[in-house]
Amino acid sequence: MADYIWKKDSTGKVDERVMRFLAGDDVVLDRELLPFDIRASKAHARGLARIKVLTSEQAAAMVASLDRLDTAFAAGEFVLDGRFEDGHSAIESWLIEDLGEIGGRIHAGRSRNDQVAVALRLYMKDRLQRLGTLCASVAGVCLQRAERESGLPLPGHTHLQQAMPSSLGLWWAGHAEAFIDNLALAQDIGDWLDASPLGTASGFGVNLPLDRDSVAEELGFHRLVVNPQYAQNARGKVELRALDALSAATADLRRLSWDISLFASQEFGFVTVSAAFCTGSSIMPNKQNPDTVELLRALHATVVGARSELESVLSLPSGYQRDLQDTKPPLIRAFARGLDGLSLLPELLGGLEWNPARMRDSISPELHATDRANELVGQGQSFREAYRAAAAELGELSGRTPEASLRERVSPGGCGNLLLDRLHDRLSALISK
Ligand code: ARG
Repeated sequence: MADYIWKKDSTGKVDERVMRFLAGDDVVLDRELLPFDIRASKAHARGLARIKVLTSEQAAAMVASLDRLDTAFAAGEFVLDGRFEDGHSAIESWLIEDLGEIGGRIHAGRSRNDQVAVALRLYMKDRLQRLGTLCASVAGVCLQRAERESGLPLPGHTHLQQAMPSSLGLWWAGHAEAFIDNLALAQDIGDWLDASPLGTASGFGVNLPLDRDSVAEELGFHRLVVNPQYAQNARGKVELRALDALSAATADLRRLSWDISLFASQEFGFVTVSAAFCTGSSIMPNKQNPDTVELLRALHATVVGARSELESVLSLPSGYQRDLQDTKPPLIRAFARGLDGLSLLPELLGGLEWNPARMRDSISPELHATDRANELVGQGQSFREAYRAAAAELGELSGRTPEASLRERVSPGGCGNLLLDRLHDRLSALISK
């Protein structure tokens, strides 16, 4: 283990068992944060040069050394492991080893408390951006298929009982709109947490005229977390909101997966999931199971569990408390697993193969009863009267076709008027934001 950065003459003997407990798997989790921590450290070094705490040569040497660390880390030549207490200490150790005394100047005006907070904000901005991109591509596939398959009849269910003729167009467009909403939410939450806590140090500010605004701007933040105490109190609070955005997507994914796994059952027989996403059974030679769909459905449980674990940590007084370290595992675990899963979805959806004949054949004539009632309304009857009349005609609806029913469902958004262009326009506007 490299010397602790907080080691001083008065430091007593450090018990390795205690240190192992304090570190937990922090150093491993910090692998996710290190690239962001390096970026923030470069901006911090440049900021220190602007206020003359570093010479411009010293800052340039630090930035170059941090670039080397970034490259070595990406190439697997620098491994963040138990030699270090955490990623923050590893950066300082690297700089001291690389640059000697100059390296020890990086920590002027900052604390690991604002260092971890800024790395986490950059990490969350990045992951929310990825989440948004994935939601956009899921919505894109759904819209494309909605267009192509808009006229294919599908029995519509409520209470899992057949209700009215519906269409694949309506089904796809419904899931498209959900993921457009989830893209918007990821963007909104990304904007909401787009603030730099760097330069708040341990939570009280420092007696140096730090150029916080320019450092934040260089890092691409839109504003500062102004108050140093709040920079710490917001830890966990912002992580929860980031997980909210993720959980909106995984909740919709859960429902979508449910639909697919029902439709893929032999009883429905509406759809086949591509073999690339299925596995066989170890005992039943006949089986081909849509496991991917099922584990995608289970993703939401991971996210909700992470959210609740994180929230339970936050019963804390103001200021930095080491408890806050425990907000990292649920956040990082949920985003890693969640984005991994979501990234499979566009291809899985693109490869679904429908059985249109089976879908159409399972629409029985009674499903046209609501159409019949509304037809009578069109002829001037009160709806309640028409409802009773249609109920009495249930046996006489066999002359109708699902295709005609879909065509005539002209209310905006309905099967005959899906308004896909509106969904397209909203998606494009959000993508180009
Ligand atoms: N691993 C710590 C965390 O995530 C880093 C900050 C340590 N700060 C401290 N004062 N010990 O919270």
